[in-house]
Amino acid sequence: MTTLAATPALDSLSFEYVRKLVLERSAIALETGKGYLVESRLMPIARAHGHGTLSAFIESLRRQPHGILHTQVVEAMTTNETSFFRDIHPFDALRTIVLPELVSARSAAKKLNLWSAACSTGQEPYSIAILLAEHFPALSDWTVNIYATDLSQQVLDRAQAGQFTQLEANRGLPAALLVKYFDKVGLHWHIKPAIKRRVRFLQANLIEPWPMLPAMDVIFMRNVLIYFTPETKRQILSKVRGQLAAGGTLFLGGAETTLGIDDAWRRVNHGKTSTYRLGPAANS
Ligand SMILES: C[S@@+](CC[C@H](N)C(=O)[O-])C[C@H]1O[C@@H](n2cnc3c(N)ncnc32)[C@H](O)[C@@H]1O
Repeated sequence: MTTLAATPALDSLSFEYVRKLVLERSAIALETGKGYLVESRLMPIARAHGHGTLSAFIESLRRQPHGILHTQVVEAMTTNETSFFRDIHPFDALRTIVLPELVSARSAAKKLNLWSAACSTGQEPYSIAILLAEHFPALSDWTVNIYATDLSQQVLDRAQAGQFTQLEANRGLPAALLVKYFDKVGLHWHIKPAIKRRVRFLQANLIEPWPMLPAMDVIFMRNVLIYFTPETKRQILSKVRGQLAAGGTLFLGGAETTLGIDDAWRRVNHGKTSTYRLGPAANS
């Protein structure tokens, strides 16, 4: 039987198997009609493992206990689109409002914890590290921890390497910051060790128990909730509440919100972007 999910290379039962696997392991909800996406992402893995057709590959997955290959399939179905200083306005809000407030609030402890949850290939946490180095030199004698996590070990390995192509560097990095914080090595731009050292990369699946992390002053959880069902978003936002330090700020992606999902959050407008905080407004 052919359904909208199926493509010439992918029958509907195989699509259904991949849809369930990806949903269970990552919470990413693959809609019917994404058969072509499954085909384009999984065909290279199928070929690399000697399978002539996608259906044969999926059939062999079905017969094996869950292992490395299943993980590879789930990781291949994640969308890792990112860029330096993505959407710029959240970084402006971080620089001009959120961090100045935190610097004053935490001046006794001299400690800040920031988390880029779903960091993909690292552009987001490195943008935060560059912003801190560039605009907050007074924090040099503070303890500033930047944690960066993702479901996919493959993107984390790339993030940890800190090596970017010219095309990746061109996306969002002003030339002055590129030459100041990166070294050109052959065709790649390598993030300078002093910036790289500031980011701690860890594997973490948002729908599984999180690794031990400190209470966070700032959480960037951008462009990942968008892939989840409303119920999964609600569960994750409730866990985020428990991870945020008092007075902390949550950044979501431009197409994401807590509104209508978890009422504990208050949206704070900063002109062209918004952030989210817990508790009543300061002036209420
Ligand atoms: C589109 S990227 C967003 C990267 C970055 N936050 C940004 O906004 O540019 C989404 C990332 O979410 C990760 N992801 C998807 N499902 C996840 C899950 N259940 N737990 C943790 N990370 C997940 C993917 O591996 C991918 O790297």
